[in-house]
Amino acid sequence: MLKTFAVIGDPIDHSLSPTIHNAAYRELDMECTYIAYKVENGELATGIESLKKIKITGFNVTIPHKIEMMKYLDNLDENCKRIGAVNTVFNDDGILRGFNTDMDGFLEPIKRKEIPIKGSRILLLGAGGASRAIIAGFQKENAKDIVIANRTKENGERLAKFSNGIGFNAKPIHLEEMDMLDSKFDFIVNASSLGLNDEKNIIPSSLMDSQTVVYDIVYKPLKTNLINTAKKNNCKIIYGYEMLLGQAIRSFEIWLDQKAPYEAMKRSILGGFG
Ligand SMILES: NC(=O)c1ccc[n+]([C@@H]2O[C@H](COP(=O)([O-])OP(=O)(O)OC[C@H]3O[C@@H](n4cnc5c(N)ncnc54)[C@H](OP(=O)(O)O)[C@@H]3O)[C@@H](O)[C@H]2O)c1
Repeated sequence: MLKTFAVIGDPIDHSLSPTIHNAAYRELDMECTYIAYKVENGELATGIESLKKIKITGFNVTIPHKIEMMKYLDNLDENCKRIGAVNTVFNDDGILRGFNTDMDGFLEPIKRKEIPIKGSRILLLGAGGASRAIIAGFQKENAKDIVIANRTKENGERLAKFSNGIGFNAKPIHLEEMDMLDSKFDFIVNASSLGLNDEKNIIPSSLMDSQTVVYDIVYKPLKTNLINTAKKNNCKIIYGYEMLLGQAIRSFEIWLDQKAPYEAMKRSILGGFG
């Protein structure tokens, strides 16, 4: 029987998820299809009803519904509870089960490349929803501490409070204060929106060397200005598309309980960039 999957959100027309998942189904010759479904702010309840009517097997949830979706779920996994947002739903015969794959998706390329996290020091740019999942991931993997650089002071402070609350030592700073940092970091992660619109990199090169992992979760453009700076400084690089791929793999495995075809999904993402 044909299984149907979707991604819901707004805007949704540029989502790469249908491309990635449909490539996986083709590769494994599965009778499945994945669609993008625009659900506007305030329309979530109706959207979910429609998905239930077509007997959707599972769906991803993106902006602006990641938090509101929580109230429509019958149960939530540990990551959802911890992060306070859901991005993957499994329709188990009418019972909606919620998952958050942001954390596992973020960690996936680090683990695939066998880069150690335990005891590491992190500089994180940004303090939004993705940053929260990233902090939960580093804490779970026993990183040492984190400096959170953010544009809006209160948001950085709020996230540092969350981090300290789960036992992961965090210090919030302003973006400009990055110039005064003198220590080296094992990981520098951009989880702000900077780079999406080709903004120039603001993370000082003095913080980067060949031992630094620079991970930019912005995936469009593929090579942001931060990635270009990191290349010049011979850093180890993780691209935003790798997190996107990590999340798609996790969703696939939650819904279909079988190993996802990594290479085929990666090819489809890179093809999607033209
Ligand atoms: N690769 C992936 O799979 C993946 C997954 C999730 C997200 N992302 C990307 O990660 C980014 C953040 O996502 P999110 O969900 O955390 O978004 P969000 O909750 O809206 O947070 C956005 C963050 O970016 C900061 N920011 C926005 N514009 C800025 C500017 N002009 N200068 C400096 N800082 C700025 C915000 O700072 P303030 O607190 O000052 O507003 C905030 O910290 C987005 O670009 C998204 O596309 C990628």
